[in-house]
Amino acid sequence: MKEKNDSKVSIEQISVGQFKNFCYLVQDIDSGESAIIDPAWEVEKILNAMKEKSFRLKFIINTHSHMDHIQGNPVIKKLTGARIVMSFKSLAKKDIGVKDGQELNLGSNVRLRFLLTPGHSPDSMCILVNDLALITGDTLFIGECGRVDLPGGDASELFDSFEKIRRLDPKLTVYPGHDYGAKPSSTLKEQIEENYTLLRRNREEFIRFMNEP
Ligand SMILES: [Fe+2]
Repeated sequence: MKEKNDSKVSIEQISVGQFKNFCYLVQDIDSGESAIIDPAWEVEKILNAMKEKSFRLKFIINTHSHMDHIQGNPVIKKLTGARIVMSFKSLAKKDIGVKDGQELNLGSNVRLRFLLTPGHSPDSMCILVNDLALITGDTLFIGECGRVDLPGGDASELFDSFEKIRRLDPKLTVYPGHDYGAKPSSTLKEQIEENYTLLRRNREEFIRFMNEP
């Protein structure tokens, strides 16, 4: 478990399950209001992490609706009453369907901004936490990116999503949806410079690159 704190917000990264998934707990430290992102697999471990702090869970947020990112939703919703937040494009069970650029707050210190980033799946999104972090789900991993050959995947859409990500603050910490890299997190600057999937390509080159066997 890794944790990043400034004085106002805590971001805890929890490793869960057999596919090296990462789940995240984001908390406004003053109020205790919190969100859990992509709860799955070891729900007991996630609940224990929540119990260690005075969590008041407000939102369950999913970066996309693949089962390895949402399967903890029902149990946690039943226990906490938190509202489930996904891209408005998601067909999975949710309470709030967010549009690109929409924001939700935790207490008075944490602003969650949703960036719709389809490509890995139609309902993929990244979550910007203040000016600190970008939680990327399966859109971007450390040193890699998510596959586009599953149903609904689209390399051309991922090209546009990467253009959107490149325009963000390079100082952001990137928190991926799986632990597939040499380390569990990185800066966006480092990813733009070193992640071979983010190398400059035009759309045609990128689509060809993504569809290479
Ligand atoms: Fe996925």
